[in-house]
Amino acid sequence: MSCIICYVVSPLPDSYSPQYVEAAWYTWWEKQGFFKPEKSIGEQNPRGMFMMCIPPPNVTGSLHLGHALTNAIQDCLTRWHRMRGETTLWNPGCDHAGIATQVVVEKKLMRERGLSRHDLGREKFIEEVWKWKNEKGDRIYHQLKKLGSSLDWDRACFTMDPKLSYAVQEAFIRMHDEGVIYRSKRLVNWSCTLNSAISDIEVDKKELTGRTLLPVPGYKEKVEFGVLVSFAYKEEVVVATTRIETMLGDTAVAVHPADPRYQHLKGKTVLHPFCDRKMPIVFDEFVDMNFGTGAVKITPAHDHNDYEVGERHNLTFINILDENGLLINVPPPFLGMKRFEARKAVLQALKDRGQFKEIKDNPMVVPVCSRSKDIVEPLLKPQWYVNCSEMGKQAADVVREGKLKIIPDHHLKTWFNWMDNIRDWCISRQLWWGHRIPAYFITVGDPSDTDGHYWVSGRSEEEAREKAARRFNVSVDKISLRQDEDVLDTWFSSGIFPFSIFGWPNETEDLKVFYPGTLLETGHDILFFWVARMVMMGLKLTGKLPFKEVYLHAVVRDAHGRKMSKSLGNVIDPLDVITGISLEGLHAQLTDSNLDALEVERAKQGQKADYPNGIPECGTDALRFALCAYTSQGRDINLDVNRILGYRHFCNKLWNAVKFAMKTLGDDFAPLEKESVSDRWILSRLSAAVALCDAGFKAYDFPTITTAIYNFWLYELCDVYLESVKPVFIKAEEDGVGQRQARVCRQTLYTCLDGGLRLLSPVMPFVAEELYQRLPRRQPQTDPPSISVTSYPDTKEFCWNSEEVDRDMEFIMTVVRTIRSLRADYNLTKTRADCKISGTFYVSRVLFQNFLKHLNCSHLPPPRADVLESSCIINSCTYRLSKLRERMVKSDYKEKVPVKVQEQDTEKVTKIN
Ligand SMILES: *[C@@H]1O[C@H](CO)[C@@H](O)[C@H](O)[C@H]1NC(C)=O
Ligand SMILES: *[C@@H]1O[C@H](CO)[C@@H](O)[C@H](O)[C@H]1NC(C)=O
Ligand SMILES: *[C@@H]1O[C@H](CO)[C@@H](O)[C@H](O)[C@H]1NC(C)=O
Repeated sequence: MSCIICYVVSPLPDSYSPQYVEAAWYTWWEKQGFFKPEKSIGEQNPRGMFMMCIPPPNVTGSLHLGHALTNAIQDCLTRWHRMRGETTLWNPGCDHAGIATQVVVEKKLMRERGLSRHDLGREKFIEEVWKWKNEKGDRIYHQLKKLGSSLDWDRACFTMDPKLSYAVQEAFIRMHDEGVIYRSKRLVNWSCTLNSAISDIEVDKKELTGRTLLPVPGYKEKVEFGVLVSFAYKEEVVVATTRIETMLGDTAVAVHPADPRYQHLKGKTVLHPFCDRKMPIVFDEFVDMNFGTGAVKITPAHDHNDYEVGERHNLTFINILDENGLLINVPPPFLGMKRFEARKAVLQALKDRGQFKEIKDNPMVVPVCSRSKDIVEPLLKPQWYVNCSEMGKQAADVVREGKLKIIPDHHLKTWFNWMDNIRDWCISRQLWWGHRIPAYFITVGDPSDTDGHYWVSGRSEEEAREKAARRFNVSVDKISLRQDEDVLDTWFSSGIFPFSIFGWPNETEDLKVFYPGTLLETGHDILFFWVARMVMMGLKLTGKLPFKEVYLHAVVRDAHGRKMSKSLGNVIDPLDVITGISLEGLHAQLTDSNLDALEVERAKQGQKADYPNGIPECGTDALRFALCAYTSQGRDINLDVNRILGYRHFCNKLWNAVKFAMKTLGDDFAPLEKESVSDRWILSRLSAAVALCDAGFKAYDFPTITTAIYNFWLYELCDVYLESVKPVFIKAEEDGVGQRQARVCRQTLYTCLDGGLRLLSPVMPFVAEELYQRLPRRQPQTDPPSISVTSYPDTKEFCWNSEEVDRDMEFIMTVVRTIRSLRADYNLTKTRADCKISGTFYVSRVLFQNFLKHLNCSHLPPPRADVLESSCIINSCTYRLSKLRERMVKSDYKEKVPVKVQEQDTEKVTKIN
């Protein structure tokens, strides 16, 4: 397909096949540059600009149905804006995903060569990661293309590209120089398995209802959680803890200042049983007098609350864990023990000394590292932080002032809750893969690591050295530097993604044109971790909001409402839905994952229950349509593959309708530039569908769009209009009667196909293009070559919406339905029965007459003014509308037909009755 104007000349295959339809269009669209905004840049485009960047997926990842939803919605919006003639850019990219990628490559190294990253060393290891990225990193782009995503691939960005890395460095340096980034020693979430701090988002909160044994990496036996152990420091000071091993790091006991039980202990100390440490009794209002004994043990170096108590009372901070989770700074026999072995040992030792009191079940939340499944330990570490107080306030203000819109607005509460209570953001990670922090530690004098005064940042070591020399007023040769080993949190680079992709801080042409962007679309689960950070960093570094609106879609769950999880066997690759897969094929994917044997078996059972026959081939279009239709479900979407299949059947319907229409139009049909407004009802319905889609897109209400399109094609065009014009075409062809009317019907039919396919194109781009290419053009010389760059129908062009016509038709359809149901009730469906209609019909005479013609009426009433008051005999009712009831009792009706449509059907049936 090399020509720009590309009409498909091969005949339309007999039946719809997604594989056939979706095979080649994407490559052609991309080659023709339809996804590039360049064409309309230059002079100001009066229709405006639409820019959105993709939420960069992890380079290690492969897409699941959640991504497919994100992409269906984003592509739909992008295609809509493009068809409206706006300068449209949807910018692709992917994320280097620090921890995830490092873990994948480490596992691969260990599996294939028996080497750890330490065996290789930092530089060689990073080479390995790049090698892996270059080999495997394209998979995700391939999947995005299969989903039909109309991204401008020439602008694809990887967060570790030189352009983006330069921006990351610049962002850090500017914020550090300003004091917004600072160094501090605090408690961080530590994974002993990863040997790194992890972000809050990487901590899963596992809820326990009581005593539970959990597996922990590095332990053969499961470890006990969910119990509260009480022991006594003195006869009268009994404290309780869920982590008894931490008592080795206790440096105080706290009670409430007003607690009458402990007044006599003011100024006293208790003795630590294992190390003769004198620990003060501190009086602090944070203690809840009514909980337990009212006395709490304080471990400032290993608990967030205790840390603050420690700061307030100048307590000693004793760190009792090293980075691997082994005990340090404790007396024998605990020294060097693994932390959960110490849990047992400490308990036994307390029992031996008679200080143990009791143990009981305790519902609690255990923090688990989502990457390594290790139990997260709060650990004191010097780290880099972003001071978020000012930035968080700004981010809340822009939303309060209406400058940034968050849709749907029930997320506002979450936004304000986070922004108003924001904590500083720990941005350093003890990894090798990522953006190395451009900060250097100056070794002059006797500095302490945490003293910010001894840290400078710079684009290079030379620059840092010059900065340091100026700060200490010495010559550069007196300065020795060491660059921080740590890398930045991945969210730091994704936080500046909306402008780093355009070459910020350099004032590039793209930055001028495309920043700030228009919309940010993503799942509500990363509202804070990503969206909020982009808003904060955009305002901080560019002084502008990175986008004007945020639309948050629901999160996909399985048909039973469960979160997608590999071990449940419900993580589905969208490509499997597109091409279909057998149950065995699904099973085989489990064996490639890193689940253990037991989990694999459970996942297999899950797959067997949900997909006993595998997943049928549904095609991209049906998948996209289903996902968009599903967004009505609110915050979570329970996805059922059967419903997707239902939309593949919808494609069949479309296909057959267009095939029929093409035959009817004939080879020499040429659409007129202006159509006649004769078949007013279907044109009115088309106009109504156009208005609904327009409103739906503007309100991010995707189910309104899919329902409008579905109803128009299926229930109005196929079920009613096509059926009603068939006799007209047959008569015209066989008897030569009503040629003029047939000509008018052809024009109307063309208008419906043209408008209907254009309405559909953003949601089902492939089948819409395939069918559209078969239609003749109104202006073959100037009309765009692809439906994807043809104008989207608007209410100016489709302006035939008429309530009067709709009402009349509704009345007529009621008559027809009534006749049909009478025939069924009296078992007359196979006989030609006479039917007498009498009454006063306030309907348009012409319309009713036309309609009765379609019904093959033998006697037509004589026309009278505009009120038809008559009766007529209907010999044979060829009209197929009441089919509705048959459809409704079919066994698969409930699964295949959207709930909204079902409701409408029920309403219709009730009305007729
Ligand atoms: C903690 O120490 C600081 C400075 O050494 C002192 O100003 C403060 O009063 C002390 N606080 C308490 C509760 O002892
Ligand atoms: C963060 O910034 C705010 C105001 O800009 C300031 O009051 C606060 O002390 C800073 N916090 C730290 C930890 O530097
Ligand atoms: C930005 O400017 C710097 C300094 O002039 C240059 O080294 C870099 O290549 C530029 N980056 C881009 C993306 O234009």
